[in-house]
Amino acid sequence: MGDIDSDILRTIIDTAHDHFFVVDADGRVRDVSPAAAAVYGMSREDLCRTTVQALEAQGVLRPSVSLEVMRSGKPAQLMQVTGTGRRVIAQAHPVFRGGKLAAVVSRSMDLTDLQLLQEEYALLQRRFSDHLRRSGIADEPGFEAELDDLEVRSEVMREVALLLQRVAPTDATVLMLGESGVGKTAFARQLHRWGPRHAGPFIEVNCGAIPESLFESEMFGYRHGAFSGAAPGGKAGLIEQAEGGTLFLDEIGELPLAVQAKLLKVIQDSSVTRLGDTRPRRVDFRLVVATNQDLAHRVETGEFRLDLYYRVNVIPVTLPPLRERREDIPGLVERQLKRLNGRYGCDKIMARDVWQQLMGWDWPGNVRELENWLERAWLSAADDVIRGDTPARYPGASVAPAGGDARRAAPDGEGLRDDESLKAALARTERAILAEQCGERSSTYAIAERLGISQPSVVRKLRRHGLRVGAKAPS
Ligand SMILES: Nc1ncnc2c1ncn2[C@@H]1O[C@H](COP(=O)(O)OP(=O)(O)OP(=O)(O)O)[C@@H](O)[C@H]1O
Ligand SMILES: [Mg+2]
Repeated sequence: MGDIDSDILRTIIDTAHDHFFVVDADGRVRDVSPAAAAVYGMSREDLCRTTVQALEAQGVLRPSVSLEVMRSGKPAQLMQVTGTGRRVIAQAHPVFRGGKLAAVVSRSMDLTDLQLLQEEYALLQRRFSDHLRRSGIADEPGFEAELDDLEVRSEVMREVALLLQRVAPTDATVLMLGESGVGKTAFARQLHRWGPRHAGPFIEVNCGAIPESLFESEMFGYRHGAFSGAAPGGKAGLIEQAEGGTLFLDEIGELPLAVQAKLLKVIQDSSVTRLGDTRPRRVDFRLVVATNQDLAHRVETGEFRLDLYYRVNVIPVTLPPLRERREDIPGLVERQLKRLNGRYGCDKIMARDVWQQLMGWDWPGNVRELENWLERAWLSAADDVIRGDTPARYPGASVAPAGGDARRAAPDGEGLRDDESLKAALARTERAILAEQCGERSSTYAIAERLGISQPSVVRKLRRHGLRVGAKAPS
Protein backbone atom coordinates (compact mmCIF):
# COMPACT_ATOMS: atom_id res chain seq x y z
CA MET A 1 0.00 0.00 0.00
CA GLY A 2 1.35 3.44 -0.90
CA ASP A 3 2.17 5.98 1.81
CA ILE A 4 -0.75 8.22 0.94
CA ASP A 5 -3.15 5.23 1.16
CA SER A 6 -1.91 4.26 4.58
CA ASP A 7 -2.15 7.90 5.72
CA ILE A 8 -5.74 7.99 4.55
CA LEU A 9 -6.50 4.74 6.34
CA ARG A 10 -4.76 6.00 9.49
CA THR A 11 -6.87 9.16 9.47
CA ILE A 12 -10.08 7.17 9.02
CA ILE A 13 -9.25 4.88 11.94
CA ASP A 14 -8.04 7.73 14.17
CA THR A 15 -11.10 9.88 13.68
CA ALA A 16 -13.84 7.25 13.58
CA HIS A 17 -16.47 7.34 16.31
CA ASP A 18 -16.88 3.59 15.96
CA HIS A 19 -14.35 1.30 17.53
CA PHE A 20 -12.12 -0.37 14.95
CA PHE A 21 -10.03 -3.44 15.62
CA VAL A 22 -7.69 -5.06 13.13
CA VAL A 23 -6.22 -8.45 13.98
CA ASP A 24 -4.10 -10.86 11.96
CA ALA A 25 -4.99 -14.45 11.13
CA ASP A 26 -3.63 -15.62 14.51
CA GLY A 27 -5.60 -13.11 16.53
CA ARG A 28 -2.72 -10.70 17.20
CA VAL A 29 -4.03 -7.16 17.47
CA ARG A 30 -2.51 -5.05 14.69
CA ASP A 31 -4.35 -1.78 15.12
CA VAL A 32 -7.19 -0.23 17.06
CA SER A 33 -8.90 3.14 16.92
CA PRO A 34 -8.59 5.54 19.90
CA ALA A 35 -12.36 5.16 20.45
CA ALA A 36 -11.86 1.39 20.87
CA ALA A 37 -9.13 1.94 23.43
CA ALA A 38 -11.56 4.05 25.45
CA VAL A 39 -14.45 1.60 25.43
CA TYR A 40 -12.28 -1.43 26.23
CA GLY A 41 -10.45 0.43 28.99
CA MET A 42 -6.89 -0.21 27.78
CA SER A 43 -4.35 1.98 26.03
CA ARG A 44 -3.85 1.56 22.34
CA GLU A 45 -0.24 0.41 22.91
CA ASP A 46 -1.29 -2.28 25.40
CA LEU A 47 -4.04 -3.50 23.09
CA CYS A 48 -1.58 -3.75 20.20
CA ARG A 49 0.72 -5.93 22.28
CA THR A 50 -1.84 -8.62 22.93
CA THR A 51 -4.19 -11.09 21.18
CA VAL A 52 -7.96 -11.32 21.03
CA GLN A 53 -7.71 -14.75 22.68
CA ALA A 54 -6.03 -13.12 25.69
CA LEU A 55 -8.47 -10.20 25.71
CA GLU A 56 -11.38 -12.62 25.77
CA ALA A 57 -9.79 -14.70 28.54
CA GLN A 58 -9.21 -11.55 30.63
CA GLY A 59 -12.79 -10.41 30.10
CA VAL A 60 -11.76 -7.19 28.33
CA LEU A 61 -14.29 -8.14 25.68
CA ARG A 62 -16.57 -11.14 25.70
CA PRO A 63 -17.17 -12.94 23.40
CA SER A 64 -14.64 -11.95 20.74
CA VAL A 65 -16.23 -11.43 17.35
CA SER A 66 -12.83 -11.68 15.60
CA LEU A 67 -12.36 -15.19 16.98
CA GLU A 68 -15.77 -16.12 15.64
CA VAL A 69 -14.72 -14.93 12.17
CA MET A 70 -11.40 -16.77 12.47
CA ARG A 71 -13.33 -19.95 13.27
CA SER A 72 -15.98 -19.64 10.55
CA GLY A 73 -14.21 -17.60 7.87
CA LYS A 74 -17.47 -15.67 7.50
CA PRO A 75 -18.66 -12.20 8.62
CA ALA A 76 -20.21 -12.23 12.08
CA GLN A 77 -22.01 -9.93 14.46
CA LEU A 78 -22.76 -10.31 18.12
CA MET A 79 -23.43 -8.51 21.39
CA GLN A 80 -20.34 -7.97 23.53
CA VAL A 81 -19.84 -7.03 27.14
CA THR A 82 -16.61 -5.14 27.81
CA GLY A 83 -14.41 -5.13 30.89
CA THR A 84 -15.61 -1.58 31.51
CA GLY A 85 -19.21 -2.82 31.74
CA ARG A 86 -20.36 -1.45 28.39
CA ARG A 87 -22.58 -3.37 25.97
CA VAL A 88 -21.59 -3.08 22.33
CA ILE A 89 -22.67 -4.56 19.00
CA ALA A 90 -19.58 -5.93 17.29
CA GLN A 91 -19.43 -6.77 13.61
CA ALA A 92 -16.40 -8.33 11.95
CA HIS A 93 -15.33 -9.18 8.41
CA PRO A 94 -12.59 -11.53 7.19
CA VAL A 95 -9.92 -10.24 4.78
CA PHE A 96 -8.53 -12.92 2.47
CA ARG A 97 -5.26 -12.83 0.61
CA GLY A 98 -4.49 -15.56 -1.93
CA GLY A 99 -7.53 -17.48 -0.69
CA LYS A 100 -6.24 -17.55 2.90
CA LEU A 101 -7.46 -15.56 5.86
CA ALA A 102 -5.03 -12.67 6.34
CA ALA A 103 -6.80 -10.41 8.79
CA VAL A 104 -10.08 -9.67 10.52
CA VAL A 105 -11.46 -6.15 10.69
CA SER A 106 -14.06 -5.53 13.34
CA ARG A 107 -16.15 -2.53 14.23
CA SER A 108 -18.26 -2.06 17.28
CA MET A 109 -20.87 0.39 18.45
CA ASP A 110 -21.63 1.24 22.06
CA LEU A 111 -25.25 0.57 22.94
CA THR A 112 -25.03 1.10 26.68
CA ASP A 113 -26.56 4.56 26.59
CA LEU A 114 -29.36 3.42 24.33
CA GLN A 115 -30.05 0.53 26.65
CA LEU A 116 -30.02 2.70 29.75
CA LEU A 117 -32.45 4.98 27.99
CA GLN A 118 -34.70 2.04 27.21
CA GLU A 119 -34.56 0.81 30.80
CA GLU A 120 -35.33 4.28 32.06
CA TYR A 121 -38.21 4.47 29.62
CA ALA A 122 -39.54 1.09 30.82
CA LEU A 123 -39.34 2.29 34.42
CA LEU A 124 -41.18 5.52 33.61
CA GLN A 125 -43.75 3.47 31.74
CA ARG A 126 -44.37 1.28 34.78
CA ARG A 127 -44.68 4.33 37.03
CA PHE A 128 -47.05 5.91 34.56
CA SER A 129 -49.23 2.78 34.52
CA ASP A 130 -49.34 2.74 38.32
CA HIS A 131 -50.24 6.39 38.34
CA LEU A 132 -53.05 5.82 35.84
CA ARG A 133 -54.39 2.94 37.83
CA ARG A 134 -54.40 4.94 41.07
CA SER A 135 -55.91 8.07 39.57
CA GLY A 136 -58.40 6.28 37.36
CA ILE A 137 -57.45 8.29 34.25
CA ALA A 138 -57.70 5.14 32.14
CA ASP A 139 -61.38 4.97 33.08
CA GLU A 140 -62.26 8.40 31.68
CA PRO A 141 -65.14 8.07 29.21
CA GLY A 142 -63.52 10.40 26.62
CA PHE A 143 -60.67 8.00 26.11
CA GLU A 144 -62.88 5.32 24.57
CA ALA A 145 -64.61 7.76 22.25
CA GLU A 146 -61.24 8.50 20.68
CA LEU A 147 -60.63 4.86 19.96
CA ASP A 148 -62.75 4.83 16.84
CA ASP A 149 -63.56 1.19 16.32
CA LEU A 150 -61.38 -0.63 18.79
CA GLU A 151 -62.46 -2.53 21.84
CA VAL A 152 -60.22 -2.01 24.87
CA ARG A 153 -62.15 -3.17 27.88
CA SER A 154 -59.42 -5.20 29.58
CA GLU A 155 -56.94 -3.30 31.69
CA VAL A 156 -54.00 -4.59 29.69
CA MET A 157 -55.46 -3.36 26.40
CA ARG A 158 -56.33 0.00 27.93
CA GLU A 159 -52.69 0.34 28.85
CA VAL A 160 -51.62 -0.63 25.34
CA ALA A 161 -53.95 2.01 23.91
CA LEU A 162 -52.79 4.65 26.37
CA LEU A 163 -49.17 3.94 25.60
CA LEU A 164 -49.85 4.25 21.87
CA GLN A 165 -51.74 7.45 22.40
CA ARG A 166 -48.83 8.90 24.34
CA VAL A 167 -46.17 7.98 21.82
CA ALA A 168 -48.32 8.92 18.80
CA PRO A 169 -47.13 12.58 18.71
CA THR A 170 -43.47 11.50 18.60
CA ASP A 171 -41.46 10.06 15.74
CA ALA A 172 -40.25 7.06 17.72
CA THR A 173 -40.40 3.70 15.96
CA VAL A 174 -42.99 1.37 17.46
CA LEU A 175 -42.60 -2.41 17.38
CA MET A 176 -45.94 -4.23 17.65
CA LEU A 177 -45.58 -7.71 19.08
CA GLY A 178 -48.16 -10.43 19.45
CA GLU A 179 -49.69 -13.55 17.97
CA SER A 180 -51.49 -13.53 14.67
CA GLY A 181 -54.90 -11.87 14.83
CA VAL A 182 -54.42 -9.97 18.12
CA GLY A 183 -54.83 -6.58 16.44
CA LYS A 184 -51.30 -5.42 15.59
CA THR A 185 -52.36 -3.93 12.26
CA ALA A 186 -55.54 -2.44 13.71
CA PHE A 187 -53.64 -0.68 16.51
CA ALA A 188 -50.88 0.46 14.14
CA ARG A 189 -53.61 2.22 12.14
CA GLN A 190 -54.94 3.77 15.33
CA LEU A 191 -51.45 5.02 16.21
CA HIS A 192 -51.30 6.65 12.77
CA ARG A 193 -54.72 8.27 13.27
CA TRP A 194 -53.61 9.71 16.61
CA GLY A 195 -50.33 11.09 15.25
CA PRO A 196 -49.49 14.39 13.56
CA ARG A 197 -49.15 12.57 10.23
CA HIS A 198 -52.75 11.33 10.27
CA ALA A 199 -53.56 13.32 7.11
CA GLY A 200 -50.67 11.57 5.34
CA PRO A 201 -50.76 8.04 3.92
CA PHE A 202 -50.65 4.82 5.94
CA ILE A 203 -48.63 2.44 3.80
CA GLU A 204 -48.89 -1.17 4.90
CA VAL A 205 -46.30 -3.62 3.62
CA ASN A 206 -46.65 -7.33 4.29
CA CYS A 207 -43.01 -8.31 4.22
CA GLY A 208 -43.97 -11.99 4.17
CA ALA A 209 -46.06 -11.63 1.02
CA ILE A 210 -43.64 -9.94 -1.41
CA PRO A 211 -41.54 -12.37 -3.47
CA GLU A 212 -37.86 -11.85 -2.67
CA SER A 213 -36.98 -10.98 -6.28
CA LEU A 214 -39.41 -8.04 -6.25
CA PHE A 215 -38.61 -6.76 -2.81
CA GLU A 216 -36.03 -4.14 -3.61
CA SER A 217 -37.91 -2.58 -6.52
CA GLU A 218 -41.15 -2.57 -4.49
CA MET A 219 -39.58 -1.04 -1.40
CA PHE A 220 -37.04 1.34 -2.86
CA GLY A 221 -38.53 2.01 -6.29
CA TYR A 222 -36.51 2.21 -9.48
CA ARG A 223 -35.22 4.67 -12.00
CA HIS A 224 -36.26 4.87 -15.62
CA GLY A 225 -34.53 2.04 -17.50
CA ALA A 226 -33.16 0.40 -14.34
CA PHE A 227 -33.96 -3.07 -15.72
CA SER A 228 -35.82 -4.53 -18.67
CA GLY A 229 -39.54 -4.22 -18.08
CA ALA A 230 -39.13 -1.22 -15.76
CA ALA A 231 -41.95 1.29 -16.17
CA PRO A 232 -41.03 4.32 -18.24
CA GLY A 233 -40.21 7.27 -16.03
CA GLY A 234 -39.29 4.98 -13.12
CA LYS A 235 -41.38 4.35 -10.04
CA ALA A 236 -41.48 5.46 -6.43
CA GLY A 237 -41.16 2.58 -3.98
CA LEU A 238 -43.35 1.95 -0.94
CA ILE A 239 -40.96 3.91 1.27
CA GLU A 240 -41.35 7.03 -0.85
CA GLN A 241 -45.10 6.49 -0.98
CA ALA A 242 -45.19 6.79 2.82
CA GLU A 243 -43.89 10.37 2.60
CA GLY A 244 -45.52 12.51 5.24
CA GLY A 245 -47.30 9.48 6.73
CA THR A 246 -46.61 6.12 8.34
CA LEU A 247 -44.75 3.15 6.87
CA PHE A 248 -46.08 0.00 8.51
CA LEU A 249 -43.88 -3.04 7.93
CA ASP A 250 -45.85 -6.11 8.94
CA GLU A 251 -44.00 -9.39 9.48
CA ILE A 252 -40.69 -7.52 9.55
CA GLY A 253 -38.91 -10.75 10.50
CA GLU A 254 -39.48 -11.91 6.92
CA LEU A 255 -37.38 -9.12 5.34
CA PRO A 256 -34.54 -10.61 3.29
CA LEU A 257 -31.11 -9.78 4.74
CA ALA A 258 -30.07 -7.65 1.75
CA VAL A 259 -33.20 -5.53 2.17
CA GLN A 260 -32.60 -5.28 5.93
CA ALA A 261 -29.22 -3.65 5.24
CA LYS A 262 -30.77 -1.15 2.83
CA LEU A 263 -33.67 -0.40 5.13
CA LEU A 264 -31.24 0.33 7.95
CA LYS A 265 -29.51 2.84 5.71
CA VAL A 266 -32.83 4.46 4.82
CA ILE A 267 -33.66 4.82 8.52
CA GLN A 268 -30.22 6.19 9.39
CA ASP A 269 -29.98 8.66 6.50
CA SER A 270 -33.69 9.53 6.12
CA SER A 271 -33.19 9.09 2.42
CA VAL A 272 -33.83 6.43 -0.17
CA THR A 273 -32.04 5.70 -3.44
CA ARG A 274 -34.10 4.07 -6.18
CA LEU A 275 -32.68 1.01 -7.97
CA GLY A 276 -30.41 2.08 -10.82
CA ASP A 277 -30.23 5.62 -9.44
CA THR A 278 -27.37 7.38 -7.71
CA ARG A 279 -29.30 10.30 -6.27
CA PRO A 280 -30.66 9.78 -2.76
CA ARG A 281 -34.10 11.32 -2.18
CA ARG A 282 -35.09 12.60 1.24
CA VAL A 283 -37.97 10.79 2.86
CA ASP A 284 -39.96 11.69 5.93
CA PHE A 285 -42.14 9.02 7.47
CA ARG A 286 -42.90 7.38 10.79
CA LEU A 287 -41.90 3.77 10.99
CA VAL A 288 -44.09 1.19 12.70
CA VAL A 289 -43.23 -2.48 12.44
CA ALA A 290 -44.91 -5.68 13.57
CA THR A 291 -44.01 -9.29 14.01
CA ASN A 292 -45.40 -12.42 15.59
CA GLN A 293 -41.97 -14.00 15.61
CA ASP A 294 -39.27 -13.99 18.24
CA LEU A 295 -37.03 -11.37 16.60
CA ALA A 296 -34.26 -11.79 19.17
CA HIS A 297 -34.12 -15.47 18.23
CA ARG A 298 -33.91 -14.58 14.54
CA VAL A 299 -30.98 -12.32 15.41
CA GLU A 300 -29.28 -15.27 17.12
CA THR A 301 -29.80 -17.51 14.10
CA GLY A 302 -28.40 -14.82 11.79
CA GLU A 303 -31.71 -14.23 9.97
CA PHE A 304 -32.17 -10.73 11.33
CA ARG A 305 -29.57 -8.00 11.64
CA LEU A 306 -28.73 -7.05 15.18
CA ASP A 307 -28.28 -3.37 14.31
CA LEU A 308 -31.69 -3.22 12.60
CA TYR A 309 -33.19 -5.01 15.60
CA TYR A 310 -31.96 -2.20 17.84
CA ARG A 311 -33.27 0.41 15.43
CA VAL A 312 -36.80 -0.98 15.35
CA ASN A 313 -37.03 -2.11 18.96
CA VAL A 314 -37.38 1.42 20.33
CA ILE A 315 -40.89 1.20 21.77
CA PRO A 316 -41.99 -2.41 21.95
CA VAL A 317 -45.73 -2.81 22.48
CA THR A 318 -47.04 -6.28 23.23
CA LEU A 319 -50.65 -7.13 22.44
CA PRO A 320 -51.57 -10.13 24.56
CA PRO A 321 -53.53 -13.05 23.10
CA LEU A 322 -57.29 -12.93 23.51
CA ARG A 323 -57.29 -15.92 25.91
CA GLU A 324 -55.38 -13.72 28.39
CA ARG A 325 -57.97 -10.92 28.27
CA ARG A 326 -61.30 -12.64 27.99
CA GLU A 327 -63.03 -9.51 29.31
CA ASP A 328 -62.65 -8.11 25.79
CA ILE A 329 -64.70 -10.94 24.23
CA PRO A 330 -68.23 -9.58 24.91
CA GLY A 331 -67.42 -6.15 23.52
CA LEU A 332 -65.74 -7.62 20.45
CA VAL A 333 -68.73 -9.85 19.80
CA GLU A 334 -71.14 -6.93 20.21
CA ARG A 335 -69.20 -4.74 17.79
CA GLN A 336 -68.99 -7.45 15.17
CA LEU A 337 -72.66 -8.32 15.64
CA LYS A 338 -73.62 -4.69 15.12
CA ARG A 339 -71.49 -4.56 12.01
CA LEU A 340 -73.05 -7.74 10.57
CA ASN A 341 -76.59 -6.66 11.41
CA GLY A 342 -75.91 -3.29 9.77
CA ARG A 343 -74.39 -4.87 6.69
CA TYR A 344 -77.25 -7.31 6.11
CA GLY A 345 -80.05 -5.19 7.52
CA CYS A 346 -81.05 -7.69 10.25
CA ASP A 347 -81.29 -7.71 13.99
CA LYS A 348 -79.90 -11.01 15.10
CA ILE A 349 -78.91 -11.62 18.72
CA MET A 350 -76.74 -14.17 20.49
CA ALA A 351 -78.40 -17.09 22.27
CA ARG A 352 -77.70 -16.82 25.95
CA ASP A 353 -76.07 -20.22 26.35
CA VAL A 354 -73.46 -19.56 23.62
CA TRP A 355 -71.68 -16.98 25.74
CA GLN A 356 -70.23 -19.45 28.15
CA GLN A 357 -68.58 -21.34 25.31
CA LEU A 358 -67.28 -18.17 23.71
CA MET A 359 -65.75 -17.07 26.98
CA GLY A 360 -64.20 -20.47 27.59
CA TRP A 361 -62.69 -21.07 24.16
CA ASP A 362 -58.97 -20.37 23.80
CA TRP A 363 -59.19 -18.52 20.44
CA PRO A 364 -55.81 -19.56 19.02
CA GLY A 365 -56.47 -17.25 16.04
CA ASN A 366 -57.38 -14.43 18.47
CA VAL A 367 -59.69 -11.57 17.44
CA ARG A 368 -59.61 -12.57 13.77
CA GLU A 369 -60.79 -16.08 14.62
CA LEU A 370 -63.54 -14.64 16.81
CA GLU A 371 -64.70 -12.37 13.98
CA ASN A 372 -64.63 -15.20 11.44
CA TRP A 373 -66.46 -17.53 13.79
CA LEU A 374 -69.18 -14.98 14.42
CA GLU A 375 -69.64 -14.24 10.74
CA ARG A 376 -70.10 -17.95 9.98
CA ALA A 377 -72.45 -18.37 12.92
CA TRP A 378 -74.40 -15.27 11.87
CA LEU A 379 -74.78 -16.51 8.30
CA SER A 380 -75.80 -20.00 9.32
CA ALA A 381 -78.38 -18.91 11.93
CA ALA A 382 -81.76 -20.00 10.65
CA ASP A 383 -83.68 -17.38 12.63
CA ASP A 384 -82.78 -14.24 14.55
CA VAL A 385 -81.04 -16.09 17.35
CA ILE A 386 -77.44 -17.09 16.82
CA ARG A 387 -76.86 -20.34 18.56
CA GLY A 388 -73.73 -21.09 16.59
CA ASP A 389 -71.74 -24.22 16.74
CA THR A 390 -69.05 -24.23 19.39
CA PRO A 391 -65.84 -23.04 17.77
CA ALA A 392 -64.22 -26.44 18.41
CA ARG A 393 -66.62 -28.19 16.04
CA TYR A 394 -65.77 -26.05 13.05
CA PRO A 395 -63.60 -27.96 10.63
CA GLY A 396 -60.10 -26.50 10.60
CA ALA A 397 -60.18 -25.63 14.29
CA SER A 398 -57.01 -27.38 15.30
CA VAL A 399 -56.45 -26.62 18.94
CA ALA A 400 -58.32 -28.04 21.87
CA PRO A 401 -60.58 -25.76 23.93
CA ALA A 402 -59.36 -24.33 27.22
CA GLY A 403 -58.35 -27.07 29.59
CA GLY A 404 -58.83 -29.64 26.83
CA ASP A 405 -56.62 -32.51 25.89
CA ALA A 406 -54.09 -31.77 23.16
CA ARG A 407 -54.43 -35.32 21.91
CA ARG A 408 -57.84 -34.47 20.59
CA ALA A 409 -56.28 -31.77 18.46
CA ALA A 410 -55.02 -33.98 15.64
CA PRO A 411 -57.44 -33.73 12.70
CA ASP A 412 -57.31 -37.44 12.02
CA GLY A 413 -58.03 -38.22 15.65
CA GLU A 414 -54.69 -39.91 15.88
CA GLY A 415 -53.19 -37.74 18.64
CA LEU A 416 -49.60 -38.06 19.74
CA ARG A 417 -47.54 -40.77 18.19
CA ASP A 418 -45.10 -42.76 20.28
CA ASP A 419 -42.15 -40.65 21.42
CA GLU A 420 -43.50 -37.64 19.59
CA SER A 421 -43.22 -34.25 21.29
CA LEU A 422 -46.24 -31.98 21.45
CA LYS A 423 -44.39 -29.48 19.26
CA ALA A 424 -43.77 -32.10 16.57
CA ALA A 425 -47.40 -33.26 16.75
CA LEU A 426 -48.66 -29.70 16.37
CA ALA A 427 -46.35 -29.10 13.41
CA ARG A 428 -47.57 -32.32 11.78
CA THR A 429 -51.17 -31.33 12.41
CA GLU A 430 -50.60 -27.86 11.03
CA ARG A 431 -48.98 -29.29 7.93
CA ALA A 432 -51.84 -31.75 7.41
CA ILE A 433 -54.43 -28.98 7.68
CA LEU A 434 -52.52 -26.72 5.30
CA ALA A 435 -51.89 -29.53 2.80
CA GLU A 436 -55.62 -30.17 2.78
CA GLN A 437 -56.23 -26.55 1.77
CA CYS A 438 -53.67 -26.43 -1.02
CA GLY A 439 -55.97 -27.65 -3.80
CA GLU A 440 -55.65 -26.44 -7.37
CA ARG A 441 -58.27 -23.74 -7.06
CA SER A 442 -57.16 -22.47 -3.70
CA SER A 443 -55.13 -19.33 -2.97
CA THR A 444 -53.19 -18.08 0.02
CA TYR A 445 -55.91 -15.47 0.55
CA ALA A 446 -58.65 -18.12 0.53
CA ILE A 447 -56.68 -20.28 2.97
CA ALA A 448 -56.11 -17.29 5.26
CA GLU A 449 -59.82 -16.54 5.27
CA ARG A 450 -60.67 -20.18 5.83
CA LEU A 451 -58.25 -20.74 8.73
CA GLY A 452 -58.67 -17.34 10.32
CA ILE A 453 -55.02 -16.31 10.04
CA SER A 454 -53.39 -13.58 7.98
CA GLN A 455 -52.29 -14.16 4.40
CA PRO A 456 -48.63 -13.48 5.20
CA SER A 457 -48.87 -16.10 7.96
CA VAL A 458 -50.17 -18.57 5.39
CA VAL A 459 -47.30 -17.78 3.02
CA ARG A 460 -44.80 -18.24 5.84
CA LYS A 461 -46.32 -21.47 7.07
CA LEU A 462 -46.53 -22.95 3.57
CA ARG A 463 -42.88 -22.11 3.05
CA ARG A 464 -41.94 -23.66 6.38
CA HIS A 465 -43.76 -26.89 5.54
CA GLY A 466 -42.50 -27.03 1.94
CA LEU A 467 -46.07 -26.72 0.58
CA ARG A 468 -47.36 -24.82 -2.41
CA VAL A 469 -50.87 -23.82 -3.38
CA GLY A 470 -52.09 -25.67 -6.45
CA ALA A 471 -49.32 -28.26 -6.19
CA LYS A 472 -49.65 -31.75 -4.84
CA ALA A 473 -48.09 -31.79 -1.38
CA PRO A 474 -44.82 -33.71 -1.19
CA SER A 475 -45.29 -36.47 1.31
N1 LIG B 1 -59.38 -4.49 20.06
C1 LIG B 1 -60.03 -4.70 18.91
N2 LIG B 1 -61.24 -4.17 18.69
C2 LIG B 1 -61.91 -4.38 17.53
N3 LIG B 1 -61.44 -5.12 16.53
C3 LIG B 1 -60.22 -5.66 16.67
C4 LIG B 1 -59.45 -5.49 17.85
N4 LIG B 1 -58.29 -6.17 17.72
C5 LIG B 1 -58.34 -6.73 16.52
N5 LIG B 1 -59.49 -6.44 15.88
C6 LIG B 1 -59.88 -6.92 14.54
O1 LIG B 1 -59.43 -8.26 14.43
C7 LIG B 1 -58.95 -8.54 13.13
C8 LIG B 1 -57.51 -8.99 13.21
O2 LIG B 1 -56.71 -7.92 13.66
P1 LIG B 1 -55.33 -7.52 12.95
O3 LIG B 1 -55.39 -7.76 11.50
O4 LIG B 1 -54.98 -6.15 13.40
O5 LIG B 1 -54.38 -8.60 13.64
P2 LIG B 1 -52.81 -8.78 13.49
O6 LIG B 1 -52.27 -8.90 14.85
O7 LIG B 1 -52.28 -7.69 12.61
O8 LIG B 1 -52.70 -10.18 12.76
P3 LIG B 1 -51.51 -10.76 11.81
O9 LIG B 1 -50.35 -11.09 12.69
O10 LIG B 1 -52.12 -12.00 11.26
O11 LIG B 1 -51.21 -9.72 10.79
C9 LIG B 1 -59.15 -7.26 12.33
O12 LIG B 1 -60.36 -7.34 11.62
C10 LIG B 1 -59.21 -6.17 13.40
O13 LIG B 1 -59.95 -5.08 12.97
MG1 LIG C 1 -51.38 -7.72 10.71
